[in-house]
Amino acid sequence: MTKKRALVTGIGGQDGSYLAEYLLENNYEVYGILRRHSVAENQNDRIKHLYELSKDINGFYGDLLDIPSLYRIFNEVKPHEIYNLAAMSHVRISFDMPSFTIQTNALGVLNMLEAYKTIVPKAKFYQASSSEMFGNSIDEDGYQRLTTPMNPVSPYGCAKVLGYNLVRHYRHAYGLFACNGILFNHESPRRGTNFVTNKVVKTAVQIKKGVKNKLELGNLDSYRDWGHSKDYVRAMNMILNHDSADDFVVATGEAHSVRDLCEIVFSKLEMDYRDYVVQNKKYMRPEELKYLKGDSSRVRKILGWQPDYTFESMIDEMISYWWERRIM
Ligand code: GDD
Repeated sequence: MTKKRALVTGIGGQDGSYLAEYLLENNYEVYGILRRHSVAENQNDRIKHLYELSKDINGFYGDLLDIPSLYRIFNEVKPHEIYNLAAMSHVRISFDMPSFTIQTNALGVLNMLEAYKTIVPKAKFYQASSSEMFGNSIDEDGYQRLTTPMNPVSPYGCAKVLGYNLVRHYRHAYGLFACNGILFNHESPRRGTNFVTNKVVKTAVQIKKGVKNKLELGNLDSYRDWGHSKDYVRAMNMILNHDSADDFVVATGEAHSVRDLCEIVFSKLEMDYRDYVVQNKKYMRPEELKYLKGDSSRVRKILGWQPDYTFESMIDEMISYWWERRIM
């Protein structure tokens, strides 16, 4: 039997790497799109172990904004499933680079949809949509869900709303199997260390080991619904293997503040965060999204998804990861 071919943009990122692993374990051929990086050694950091484990993973240089590269790759791979995970994914940096963010995170989706519609219209398409699209909208019961109004509060969020709507529009207008996963924050040891969870965990371990003496953060009073990336990439695959194209919220349904996160991480390392955490304006955002808590009852009920990790087991895994490394 021929294997299913999956095309993954952003394969070098946290989610791309876990998704590639999951797809290989499930007998797919995986094709990834990577942007060129000036330090060649860093290009494949999160996925190089996969090249040693499997011959079914292949990488292409390309970019969501380089339309000829997309057509070349789509024509060569003829994927059955397309996962569009590539993005400028850092919300605070999107305020510094609004134009690049809008181009990549919105027009990039359009470029992908056009290549998909033209070359493999029978394939299935997953778009990495985000809880950042809700901005500060919260339903009366304290949750965000598919029907919650989208009021983005960052260039990143604005771009993701356009991408989300384009996917729905292409699904309705052209009968494509195009789906959005609205994923709430998801973390792991592979998370970039400029996102708050891995920054807090890594720096707390450095403080415990005596190589740092403080942790500089921005807003401590925002709340996020934090799950584990490994659980969330499974949901992406389930969404594309459902019998009809649809959009789903993926979340844990638990909210913690950045302050809670600090308290938990430092106390696991037998320290008091108040002795080390200082605020630095440079990490504040011009407009902050204050509270996220997702209602994922549809994905649980319709697709049978549920997370394996808890907030605590995820934090423990991240602490062990940094604890076992020689970090300076
Ligand atoms: N990054 C960062 N660095 N965030 C900080 C810091 C800091 O030093 N100090 C406080 N925070 C606060 C932010 O202001 C925000 O309220 C919260 O920590 C989480 O920030 P991030 O970890 O950067 O994640 P995010 O919520 O902005 O965005 C992530 O989740 C989205 C889903 O809602 C990203 O993964 C997005 O790509 C994703 O779409």
